[in-house]
Amino acid sequence: MATGMKKGLTSYGDAEFSLFLRKAFIKAMGLSDDALARPIVGIANTFSDYNACHGNVPRLVEAIKRGVMLAGGLPMEFPTISIHESFAWPTSMFLRNLMAMDTEEMLRAQPMDSVVLIGGCDKTIPAQMMAAASADVPAVFVPVGPMLVGHHRGETLGACTDCRRLWSEFRGGRIDAVEIEAINERLAPTAGTCMVMGTASTMACIVEIMGLALPHSATIPATHADRLRSAEASGTVAVAMAKSGGPKPSEIMSAAAFRNALVVMQAIGGSTNALIHLTAAAGRLGVQIDLDAVDALGREVPVLVDLKPSGQHYMEHFHWAGGVPRLMHELSGVLNLEARTIEGRSLREVLGAVDTREAQDVIRPRGEPISAQGSVVVLRGNLAPRGAILKQSAATPRLMQHTGRAVVFDSLDDMAARVDSPGLDVTADDVLVLKNAGPIGAPGMPEAGYLPIPKKLAAQGVKDMVRLSDARMSGTAFGTIVLHMTPEAALGGPLAMIKNGDSIRLDVTARRIDLLVDEAELARRQADFREHGASGAAPVPDRGYAALFHRSVLQADEGCDFDFLVPGHPARRP
Ligand code: FES
Repeated sequence: MATGMKKGLTSYGDAEFSLFLRKAFIKAMGLSDDALARPIVGIANTFSDYNACHGNVPRLVEAIKRGVMLAGGLPMEFPTISIHESFAWPTSMFLRNLMAMDTEEMLRAQPMDSVVLIGGCDKTIPAQMMAAASADVPAVFVPVGPMLVGHHRGETLGACTDCRRLWSEFRGGRIDAVEIEAINERLAPTAGTCMVMGTASTMACIVEIMGLALPHSATIPATHADRLRSAEASGTVAVAMAKSGGPKPSEIMSAAAFRNALVVMQAIGGSTNALIHLTAAAGRLGVQIDLDAVDALGREVPVLVDLKPSGQHYMEHFHWAGGVPRLMHELSGVLNLEARTIEGRSLREVLGAVDTREAQDVIRPRGEPISAQGSVVVLRGNLAPRGAILKQSAATPRLMQHTGRAVVFDSLDDMAARVDSPGLDVTADDVLVLKNAGPIGAPGMPEAGYLPIPKKLAAQGVKDMVRLSDARMSGTAFGTIVLHMTPEAALGGPLAMIKNGDSIRLDVTARRIDLLVDEAELARRQADFREHGASGAAPVPDRGYAALFHRSVLQADEGCDFDFLVPGHPARRP
């Protein structure tokens, strides 16, 4: 098989001419024949002025290049789409598949024997996992690392659990406009990803436990010198992979590795978003993530890492406590330790090098968990025939069994217009329902599942209510929030049938979410939906990426990938 500069020659009908031309152009960069004869390591650069989380990427690139050259390879840096959570309209999830396609095609189109993928901010690592799985070029993941914590009036602050908590305090009138501005400057004090167990931290831990990134690379702070040393070492590993031609992502991202990822997701109190991303990446390789198996794992694996939003600490504390390798030690009875890593080692060998002598209080032993069951539970019931998710480790225990009256918002716009209205008929015992915020309805399944507590209730000190939607939720958020209700309202899922004043029952112990309306009435509402369609769903786009997205995006239980990117092209199910 062709390697290095001879790989994937541009089609001119004359391979030797193609190579001649390629070399002529690359020599304009001043490269010698010696350099061009080396194994080529691509480096996917996701720096962007719009992506503050990736502010350290230029230094990471420099360190990776150093590692590649010290090991005798030729580093070739190239750009891909970069997505920041707060700078992506309408939502970053809308763009994840576009970034996955961009990355996959660049890995395939350009000559490289291995690649280093620099990711971090929420959707970037998932997009890169999907791309790596499909392109199957030997790949090393380098997370950008978490931010350091912020400080305000003697309190430690973390993006974005404390962004949401303090914004709620402001909405409730307990913080004034001057103080909330001061807090705004202190919530994200350095480059790096959110330093709580949000999606970025969760996905970084996942690529580490899956053996796609070096040990400790998930947790080293973004600003620390160790982060650069880890990047340099990643470059060196990438050269070894380029020389040997593997291991390839398809060899590492096995069913066992995905199961290990789910174990760690539960034990770290990981983001619910990870489930969608893992389903998408696994789907690229024909591996099924079974929601019922995820729930069963949650009953077996306790939350052990004491990190916000489920616990107290932040990512830098998790790192100094020993990070993912130390957690592996606590989970060794549940993990498949024969799974392989990019270094060619098994997890058992990685575990053999873990020092467990140091005292720490962030990673609990299995006998003293933060919560006896894992973070994510899967709900079924007449409102979610294909499943819904609740992050129980971030929810209010007293609301785990709750029946309440539905207060319905037809869309994000409807919610924004009415949720704070003094005239809204709502009490703390009601269930807030948001429709048309799923993959198609919004579009892009925004992180809108954290419905705000209506202002008049927030002012009375109400901090949590049962909330339902077909949306996602930031991994940094806290609350008794049912998410990913599938099928979504825009496709005529049962969520679309809820009306104001209906009774809804949440029973987390029984893993059910039900609408307490008789069958005949439900059938009547379904017939009405078929006749009139969804009220509140976004208009159908007629051009460009938005039209492609609308036509092709799958539901949450299928990872929200595009149907045509999944082997076998599954038909979209209503
Ligand atoms: Fe980038 Fe949180 S906004 S990781």
